[in-house]
Amino acid sequence: MEHLVVHGGHRLDGSVQVGGAKNAILPLLPAALMAKGKAIIRNVPRLTDVETMMELLRSLGCTAEWEGEHRLAVERQDDAAFEAPLELVRKMRASIWVLAPLLATRGQAVVPLPGGCVIGDRPVDMHIKGLCAMGAEIEITGGNLTAIAQNGLHGAEIYLGGHFGSSVGATVQVMLAGVLAKGKTILHSAACEPEISDLANCLNLMGAKILGAGSPRLEIEGVEELNAVDYYVIPDRIEAATLLMAGAITDGEVEVTDVRPDHLSAVLSSLRQANVFVEVNERSIRVRNNGPLKSIDVTTHQYPGFPTDAQAQLMALLTNAEGYSIISEQIFPDRFRHIGELNRLGANIRKATNHAIVRGRQTLTGARVEATDLRASAALILAGLVAEGETEVEQLEHLDRGYDRLEDKLRALGAVLERVA
Ligand code: UD1
Repeated sequence: MEHLVVHGGHRLDGSVQVGGAKNAILPLLPAALMAKGKAIIRNVPRLTDVETMMELLRSLGCTAEWEGEHRLAVERQDDAAFEAPLELVRKMRASIWVLAPLLATRGQAVVPLPGGCVIGDRPVDMHIKGLCAMGAEIEITGGNLTAIAQNGLHGAEIYLGGHFGSSVGATVQVMLAGVLAKGKTILHSAACEPEISDLANCLNLMGAKILGAGSPRLEIEGVEELNAVDYYVIPDRIEAATLLMAGAITDGEVEVTDVRPDHLSAVLSSLRQANVFVEVNERSIRVRNNGPLKSIDVTTHQYPGFPTDAQAQLMALLTNAEGYSIISEQIFPDRFRHIGELNRLGANIRKATNHAIVRGRQTLTGARVEATDLRASAALILAGLVAEGETEVEQLEHLDRGYDRLEDKLRALGAVLERVA
């Protein structure tokens, strides 16, 4: 098993390019199941989640190959298969997005339920509600979602809000279902994340008719066919946030380039409140030290609010801020497994229901810690950058699911860390 050894105490300085967004490419790939021709997708990060989605598409009759370091080619070849293999769905929740394309083009689908995960209970009831409103019949048997659309999918007016607000996953599912459905689909309480807008842009280039992406009301007019296109994926706002926080926690000066600052307004606002100097340009953002970090009170929300995917990294940053900070988690109330591991490094964080109270400016010291999920692994690396001595971060498979060479990027900024067997 590999782990990462982080030698703390090195100030980060320099400029680093951000890659394509994991959460944008993952919903784009299943769209290939519905398109004619060979799709080229650029700015694709090298991640195990992307490899898993490619494997899943291959198992469903597509070719999916790298044609360059960050360029993928995907082409639908054979429409016979309609069952997603359990071993792939188990690895990655986003696998559930093949459900709608399979229903739309093959009239049936069997997809194992992805189940819960370490960031909490993650139901798929809203995905099912959306598809059923569009004419699918869905049963849960033997741990599988077995879906049939005997007369094809049709448009519908669907309210898609849940207990925790809108759902990125369910919005993607209904969009994928709606593009080839008969008639018009109107979606209320749609997720507004930039990755949803990116999917809509790509689908529209393929011939779909989607209006309103980026707002809570989506209108999708079904079309007869979709054609594969050449598409460039948006930058990863969470990778950008992670690198900016890495700069801030080390009192360094870090610039991230090839980013969309407008996708990061909540993160930048929180950084400024925490007394980080932030300079924004058209396609880049720079942070630098502005005196001691200050405690803040942050709540995660759906976009454009503070993203839950940057919550763990922010918590690591706030261990270095003066006073008490409060972080409230509104999307995944149990997404706090990193607290125990940060406390192993000497942080003083207490969890109370869906809130974390961070007592800042504790001296962190290196220890062996376990990365419990993707963003937790980034948080532990950030904490390791300022901990005295060596921090060993174990279970790197989580990191590799969602960060493309994070350690190389940090090293280029002056961090001292290595991956060891
Ligand atoms: C996506 C992102 C993930 C991010 C999350 C929230 C991808 C691949 N993953 O996950 O990185 O953390 O959005 O921004 O893009 N819910 C239900 N029923 C459902 C679906 C969701 O109750 O059928 C709940 C969830 O448990 C959660 C909330 O809705 O509390 C939001 O979840 P959702 O937006 O669907 O997250 P994902 O799409 O799984």
